[in-house]
Amino acid sequence: EEIYRKNNIYQINREAAFYYYKNLVKEANKGLNYLFERGLSIKTIKKFGLGYAKDAWEALNNYLLSKGYDQESIFKAGLVLERKKRNGYYDRFRNRVMFPIINTTGKVIGFGGRVIDNNEPKYLNSPETIAFNKGNNLFGLNLAKNEVIKMKQIIVVEGYMDVIGLYERGIKNVVASLGTALTKNQANLLKRYADEVIIAYDADTAGQAATLRGLDILREVGCRVRVVRLSEGKDPDEFVRKKGKEAFLKEVENALSLIDYKIVLSKEENDLTNPEGKVKFVKSLTQILKQLKSPVEIDAYIKKIAQESQISPEAIKAEIYGNNRYNN
Ligand code: GTP
Ligand code: MN
Ligand code: MN
Ligand code: MN
Ligand code: MN
Repeated sequence: EEIYRKNNIYQINREAAFYYYKNLVKEANKGLNYLFERGLSIKTIKKFGLGYAKDAWEALNNYLLSKGYDQESIFKAGLVLERKKRNGYYDRFRNRVMFPIINTTGKVIGFGGRVIDNNEPKYLNSPETIAFNKGNNLFGLNLAKNEVIKMKQIIVVEGYMDVIGLYERGIKNVVASLGTALTKNQANLLKRYADEVIIAYDADTAGQAATLRGLDILREVGCRVRVVRLSEGKDPDEFVRKKGKEAFLKEVENALSLIDYKIVLSKEENDLTNPEGKVKFVKSLTQILKQLKSPVEIDAYIKKIAQESQISPEAIKAEIYGNNRYNN
C-alpha cells in the first residue's frame, strides 16, 4: 500500500518533470533564456531535465488531470495547493525554472523551483511527502554517482546551480545538500560512495556556519573531509564561471584539512598581536587537537600553531595533555 502510493507520486512527478521540460525547450521562453544567461548549454539542461513552470495558475494541474491522474494524488505529490476562497487547486510552482530532484534509482522525488525575476522566495521546494525526505537525499547524486565512485571523492555544495554550473564545466563529482544543513543520513550517503568529502559551500557567513556543522557531522560518521574556501562573496557556480574549471580544481586540490580550516578561522577571529588573542587562538585549537588520534599529526599541528602564535610548543602540549606532564 505504502509502496503503491510512493510509486504513484514518482509517476506523477515524472509526468510533471516531462511537462516542465517541454515548456522549457519547445519554444523560446523566459525560463530558457534565464538558464542560457547563466551559462548553461542545452546539453546540460537536458542532462538534468531542467524545466519551466509557466506563469499560470492551473497549467500543470490541468495537464496532469488530462493525463488521467486524480486530484488527490496530484495534491499528495505536493505539486498543487488547495484554494482558500473557493474549491479547487492551483499550481505550487509558477513562473520558475524547475530542478527535478532525482534519487539514485532514477525516481523523481521532488522539485526545486527558482524565480527568474527578483520575486520571493528565490527558491521553492516540494514539500516533504511520503516519497520525498530532504534530509535523506542529495541533489545530483544520480548523475554524480559513477564519477564519485571512480574518483573516490565527492564535492558537496549548497545549491542546485552550483552542482549544475560545475557539471557544465566538466566537474561531475558534485552534489548539493538541498538547502538544509547536512544531515547524518546525507553524511552516511556521502560516505557510502566516496572515501573523501570536499565541502565547498558559499563564501559567506551562512556558508561558513554550514561548513562547521557539516564538518562535525561528517566526522561523526567517520568521513575523511576537507574544506574549500572560495574567495569572498562567491559560490562554486560563480567561481567556476569567472575563473574556470582548472582554477576550481586547484581549489579542491588545495582544500584544507579540518584542523587547517579551523586554524584559518581562528586566526581571523583572534588578534594574534596581543596575549589575550593568542591565548584564545591556541585554546580554540587545542580543543580540536585533543580529538586527533595520531601523535605525529598532533605534533605537526602543535608546531604549526606554535609558529602562528609565537607560543612555545611545550606550553601548547601541556595545554593539550594537562599540566602534569609539563611539570615532569
Ligand atoms: P542562485 O542565486 O540561483 O545562484 O542560487 P544559490 O544556489 O547560489 O542560492 P543561495 O546560495 O542563496 O542558496 C543555496 C541553496 O539554498 C539554494 O540552491 C536553495 O536550495 C536554498 N535556498 C536559497 N534560497 C532559498 C529560499 O528562499 N527558500 C528555500 N526553501 N531554499 C532556498
Ligand atoms: Mn539565500
Ligand atoms: Mn548562499
Ligand atoms: Mn549562486
Ligand atoms: Mn550560493
